[in-house]
Amino acid sequence: MSNDNNHNKIIRVENLTKTFESKKDSLHALKDVSFSIEKGDIYGIIGLSGAGKSTLVRCLNLLEKPTSGKVIVKDKDLLALSKEELRLERQKIGMIFQHFNLLAQRTVLDNICLPLEIRGIPKKERQAKAMELLKSVGLESKSGAYPSQLSGGQQQRVAIARVLANEPDILLCDEATSALDPQTTKTILDLLLDINRQLGITIVVITHEMRVVKEICKHVAVLDEGILQETGTVSEVFTNPRTHAAKRLIYMGLSEETEEEVAKHVG
Ligand SMILES: Nc1ncnc2c1ncn2[C@@H]1O[C@H](COP(=O)(O)OP(=O)(O)OP(=O)(O)O)[C@@H](O)[C@H]1O
Ligand SMILES: [Mg+2]
Repeated sequence: MSNDNNHNKIIRVENLTKTFESKKDSLHALKDVSFSIEKGDIYGIIGLSGAGKSTLVRCLNLLEKPTSGKVIVKDKDLLALSKEELRLERQKIGMIFQHFNLLAQRTVLDNICLPLEIRGIPKKERQAKAMELLKSVGLESKSGAYPSQLSGGQQQRVAIARVLANEPDILLCDEATSALDPQTTKTILDLLLDINRQLGITIVVITHEMRVVKEICKHVAVLDEGILQETGTVSEVFTNPRTHAAKRLIYMGLSEETEEEVAKHVG
């Protein structure tokens, strides 16, 4: 049962570790990571390349199986679910990626129809629903186009419409704006904000771009070499980073300074 403290937590990660074993050695991608995310939050996870961000976010829907620890989503321990129960929970955890992952041979409308098709929704109904979703991301006029005929920002809108087809409670975004220019990034972030506010979807944003976090996140966690260094509200962590890893990321992300100049601040 959840106690009072956990009442509003939609995701709880407890003592999560992930070790990749190879013949030669073990790579400790996540080391004893614990944190939680409130329902309705927009939660950023930041860190340098290789810090373990993608591994962490993939553990949140068990695309990656943790080596040990717990992932509790809506009070359900994901590792304790049956295959079928997990499949149903996963439908409510959407994911979008840096490279959009649309199917090239399908039109925009048919891409959005895909999750509905998988759920066995009849053709007419799913096309109507897909059209409605396409409208909600401002791309009605592109229903018959193929992904290669769209800009990066438009492709990400289609990917967002597709993920909304399953009416998720949680949306995981792994570097969703990293392939986009600053102006297009802004429009996608505005769309994510709308989705959060209007649909109440909890959003987890994985990024190495500090301005993305500043723009839309309420809370942030700093990951460095598989270790969760600090968590807090964005204003707390950005105005008063406590750990070396957070200082390095935040000072580098907020200025055009070189790594050596940043080293002077950080010590
Ligand atoms: N399937 C895998 N097998 C072995 N090692 C892996 C695997 N996936 C990730 N790793 C390793 O785990 C570490 C964390 O990788 P991860 O992709 O989570 O980093 P990241 O923070 O997302 O980096 P980036 O910002 O570059 O995307 C890296 O050292 C990576 O090489
Ligand atoms: Mg990554």
